Amino acid sequence: MTAADEPGFSTLSIHAGARPDPTTGARVTPIYQTTAFVFDDVDHAAALFGLQAFGNIYTRITNPTTAALEERVAALEGAPAALAVASGHAAQMVVFHTLMQPGDEFVASTKLYGGSINQFNHAFKNFGWNVRWADPDDLGAVRGAITDKTKAIFVESIANPGGVVTDIAGFAAIAKQAKVPLIVDNTLASPYLIRPVEHGADIVVHSATKYLCGHGNSMGGIIVDGGVFEWLGDPRYPMLSAPRPEYGGMTLAETFGNFGFAMACRALSLRDLGPAISPFNAFLILTGIETLSLRMQRHCDNALAVARHLAAHPAVGWVSYAGLRESRYYELAQRYAPKGAGGVLTFGVNGGYEAGVALVARLRLFSHVANIGDVRSLVIHPASTTHRQLAEAQKIAAGAGPEVVRLSIGLEDVADLLADLDQALA
Ligand SMILES: Cc1ncc(COP(=O)(O)O)c(C=O)c1O
Repeated sequence: MTAADEPGFSTLSIHAGARPDPTTGARVTPIYQTTAFVFDDVDHAAALFGLQAFGNIYTRITNPTTAALEERVAALEGAPAALAVASGHAAQMVVFHTLMQPGDEFVASTKLYGGSINQFNHAFKNFGWNVRWADPDDLGAVRGAITDKTKAIFVESIANPGGVVTDIAGFAAIAKQAKVPLIVDNTLASPYLIRPVEHGADIVVHSATKYLCGHGNSMGGIIVDGGVFEWLGDPRYPMLSAPRPEYGGMTLAETFGNFGFAMACRALSLRDLGPAISPFNAFLILTGIETLSLRMQRHCDNALAVARHLAAHPAVGWVSYAGLRESRYYELAQRYAPKGAGGVLTFGVNGGYEAGVALVARLRLFSHVANIGDVRSLVIHPASTTHRQLAEAQKIAAGAGPEVVRLSIGLEDVADLLADLDQALA
């Protein structure tokens, strides 16, 4: 506990959002595996449907297990409210659906998870939402990408596939000047390493599939409402600032104040698009978060040891990890993530494509999968898998050249990880 009135991060990871079940006394939040909830009476039902009372109607919109997860992540991010959905991609879709109209634009960092680049370039275009890409290391270029159609700016705090740390406060200043919300994907950092709202982010999204869950066993996504952006009176965001006929003319930003954005995501976008998280997955992610601080610190410590080892290895050309002093992102990592630069790193193996695939084939302890943020150490060779459809130049621009190998460092004994890498590189 840092102060009598403010529990510490680990305490919140275990207790925020959870209390003994009022009916049974169950100490762990139960899995409310039900689709619907019985109303007290007809007036109660009408009040719930009109957003005049809080409570449960149907698990597509709210569920008590999911609510505990939402409250916990909001507490960890230092924000008033959060909303859990089916996956990280669903979180992004729900956020943009709440902000954008057809023909609108948003500015996104070029250094993003490849799946997000696809989502923005293809699926979002079908909705008429147009992305303008900008290099996150060139804030002038970011400013230059903003037009009068821009509705949001999107970055990752620590970018997948690793090694890149974003100047969140620099982006927040640009967003504030343009009067648009800054959305930060905090998946790779988790709130243990970085709390983007403290640096000026308006909305935070997570693939909870990764470090929040931590055990590679559930898909989930989270949207965090920072609670500060002034939606009210801004006609560019009609989902928040215009009266809603289906809710008796209510204006969501006015009625719900500093959690208006989370309410609009839930009561309009999640309601109509439908990517609800299953209560079982919410339970597993809630359980995973209980050990978040212990796990993240070990991920970071192991990753730094692996990065240092690889950087000194004769079979390795380069290592990209912001925890290394020689990284161009070292200073930003010290400023934004002083406890560690996360668990994901990339490196270039001497010998190019053939050496890259051979290394993956020879590793024994590392699992060859397209995932990150698991207790198990994971490996992938992007050029032969996730990025294989791209042209050679596009692969290199995306940080997925022929020699690149991505590691997601798990919680095993680090000596065993180094030994496995050494035998595979020999
Ligand atoms: C940084 C980042 N954001 C978003 C996503 C998408 O999340 P999900 O796979 O849960 O849809 C991923 C998945 O790898 C990711 O790494």
